[in-house]
Amino acid sequence: MKKITFVGTGYVGLVGGAGISEFGHQVTCADIDQNKIERLKAGEIPIYEPGLESLVKKNVAKGRLHFSHDVPKSIQNADIIFVAVGTPQGSNGEANLSAIESVAKTIGENLNGYKIICTKSTVPIGTGKRIEEIIRSMNPNGDFDYVSNPEFLREGAAVKDFLHPDRVVIGTRTQKAIKVMGEVYRPLYINETPIISTTVETAEMIKYAANAFLSLKISYINEIANLCEAVGADVQDVARAMGLDGRISAKFLHPGPGYGGSCFPKDTHALAATGQKNRSPLLTVEAAIKTNASQKVRMVDKLKRLMGGSFKGKTVAVLGLAFKPQTDDVREAASIVIVSNLAESGATVQAYDPIAIDNFKNHFPNIQYYDSWQDAVKNADACILLTEWNEFRGMDLNKLKDLMKTPVLLDTKNIISIQELESRGFTYDNVGRKSPS
Ligand code: UDX
Repeated sequence: MKKITFVGTGYVGLVGGAGISEFGHQVTCADIDQNKIERLKAGEIPIYEPGLESLVKKNVAKGRLHFSHDVPKSIQNADIIFVAVGTPQGSNGEANLSAIESVAKTIGENLNGYKIICTKSTVPIGTGKRIEEIIRSMNPNGDFDYVSNPEFLREGAAVKDFLHPDRVVIGTRTQKAIKVMGEVYRPLYINETPIISTTVETAEMIKYAANAFLSLKISYINEIANLCEAVGADVQDVARAMGLDGRISAKFLHPGPGYGGSCFPKDTHALAATGQKNRSPLLTVEAAIKTNASQKVRMVDKLKRLMGGSFKGKTVAVLGLAFKPQTDDVREAASIVIVSNLAESGATVQAYDPIAIDNFKNHFPNIQYYDSWQDAVKNADACILLTEWNEFRGMDLNKLKDLMKTPVLLDTKNIISIQELESRGFTYDNVGRKSPS
């Protein structure tokens, strides 16, 4: 059993802290935000993530998971410190490392005996070295090893991804640190999860290379979808047949309104910026970024075409605000670009999402929000579906048609049957399937 502190109780820190306490270790999740810590101590989970609340409650009850706003003391008490603070995108595309640097200083000031300092946040390649330098400059004789242990958590499936990962990457320089990290992840060793041992820089690169590749895959299928529309092909069949080739795989070949979320947009920009800085540009990643931005705008153009060329004075129902299902996160979601275009063009927006409305209100306080899709579509001139929530998959199309002023639907996730829309007389469009005649 190890004594472990997570610094940062955001998405990564909370899921990681709860997950590692589930492995049997003593974990403290520490944060300088006293209010957040008080809420956590009171049993309130500040993010929506399936399975997280019960995992936290269980491990708090077992006495393995604690919360503290005393970051220095939590560092002093731990054998291993996981750094899990945010690395938001700065104005130049590069990640903003001020929170990471501030934690490194606090660690340097509070090193009392051998510790492992392990970064979980996604940080640009070379940051590990910088963190080590900061700690050394604060504490030249400090006894520590540095580890890069990137997370590969999907929002909405993060607990599962943490407890049953495809692989664990441990980047470090010493055998001692590899051994200690092996003890941290012992239950995964028993499950025969691949544990990849690398240098710090390689581990940092793996995270970016994986996320950028998935982003490329999505942008690629989105461009193929767009071309399918022009040549009269069906992207669903194209993607399915492509995916049956084991070298390609069927995953992440779903076309849509462009990827969003807290990772892909930020990480592709950061990797592209690292490429430029090192005079080794990543032209494919730069192209994926551009394709993704234009895909979001393309949805606005499609909707406008369906509605006869103008949004002015029209009412549009927006179904789905989250960047994907099973999350209330709206960061970089296609909904933001689309709603802002609609609002600027003089449309009335009637929005619904099962759980992301509160977060969306921070961006758009003045549009109309409803508690059900049935209410949101009432008297709408058109409806745009942006997130593949299950309740939209099973939508009663007769009811939808009855409630709307005119039956016009843009299904950006290709979840509604074209035949069913046609048989009910909808004017419709989608991404890369049969185009409206
Ligand atoms: C991603 C990575 O999957 C995860 O490993 C990493 O640690 C963080 O970034 P996440 O952002 O939570 O996770 O969501 P993900 O499920 O990967 O989806 C990202 C975006 O891509 C969503 O907007 C989703 O709708 C979109 N997407 C995904 C597609 O448009 N098509 C696909 O085929 C798959």
